[in-house]
Amino acid sequence: MKRVLITGGAGFIGSNFIRHLLARYDYEVVNFDKLTYAGNPDNVNDLQSDRRYRFVKGDICDPAAVNVALDGCDAVVNFAAETHVDRSLIDAGAFIQTDVHGVFALLEAARQHGVERFLHISTDEVYGPRFPANPAREDDPLTPANPYAASKAGGEMQCQAFFRTYGLPIIVTRSRNNIGPRQHPEKAVALFITNALEDLPLPVYGEGLQVRDRLYVDDNCEAIDLVLHRGQPGEAYNIGADNERPNIEVAQAVLDLLDKPRDLIRFIEDRTNHDARYSLDTSKIRALGWEPQHDFETAMARTVAWYRDNPWWWQKIRSGEFSVYYQQQYAGRLARSHGP
Ligand SMILES: NC(=O)c1ccc[n+]([C@@H]2O[C@H](COP(=O)([O-])OP(=O)(O)OC[C@H]3O[C@@H](n4cnc5c(N)ncnc54)[C@H](O)[C@@H]3O)[C@@H](O)[C@H]2O)c1
Repeated sequence: MKRVLITGGAGFIGSNFIRHLLARYDYEVVNFDKLTYAGNPDNVNDLQSDRRYRFVKGDICDPAAVNVALDGCDAVVNFAAETHVDRSLIDAGAFIQTDVHGVFALLEAARQHGVERFLHISTDEVYGPRFPANPAREDDPLTPANPYAASKAGGEMQCQAFFRTYGLPIIVTRSRNNIGPRQHPEKAVALFITNALEDLPLPVYGEGLQVRDRLYVDDNCEAIDLVLHRGQPGEAYNIGADNERPNIEVAQAVLDLLDKPRDLIRFIEDRTNHDARYSLDTSKIRALGWEPQHDFETAMARTVAWYRDNPWWWQKIRSGEFSVYYQQQYAGRLARSHGP
């Protein structure tokens, strides 16, 4: 492998993965990103001085732009996606466009270029809710329950079709909820931390009983690296850390780590059709030799410390388009909220 096309590399996981790749290998990296509201040049600007790194602004739905960016690349890792479930409940159109049609356009271009590896980044949400806990194995059916999860499952179906029909060497990862540096403050943990740092209420859906696994992003990057180099084409790999906690405990952990009062927590009207819990069997990736290095406490402490030390990064985001979205999503709910 010499040159890798990373799509969505200006987002949260993609920017962490590019740093991981450049630190560990002597690969050239082309970062192809549309720079949607979630794509942040601040996530990658410091990489411009590395001669092995190149940024290309473009849309994975645009075959001509993808073709140019793919020139000379022998592998693709596709992080590009619309990713926020709450936004998919307001308007799913962009999700279907990027997460389904965009994946198809990218696969088609990769097929024409004859890449050696195509790694598609998917999510545990494609299996749908597993409550009570009932760990999903990679060959279980995909039964997504919200528009984001359904669009990701649609992208995966395209991947399966391109593997079976054309033999494109595609591998899929399905990971649990990542946390760590550079996650957009719309996502629950980053939202809790940045609100707490500004002494604002922490909006917790329902009674905060939904359970999620909090996988530290560096652990996910290690897993993606392993699968990229040693995974079996045509296979999917679940990635999870066994750091499951209900959301209420995550909010409490944030407040405790920042030495803020727990009465900042506000219970708000729940998200429509909020999946109670996901659950993954991760024995397949573990059999490849991967183990997460961060338990819940370490992952949370590192994440909180990063936001505390980098207000310049999140304050810019929170004062922009996000403030309009935040009002729309939370103002009414907070007005009707109740405390612990
Ligand atoms: N964050 C998580 O916890 C999590 C968990 C499981 C799976 N995933 C998957 O991992 C991937 C990355 O997630 P993230 O949290 O880093 O997302 P993110 O929202 O932080 O970043 C997404 C990036 O994709 C770019 N993008 C969006 N549409 C594009 C398009 N049409 N063409 C090119 N670029 C486009 C955005 O500009 C942004 O830089 C996604 O595929 C997501 O579904 C994320």
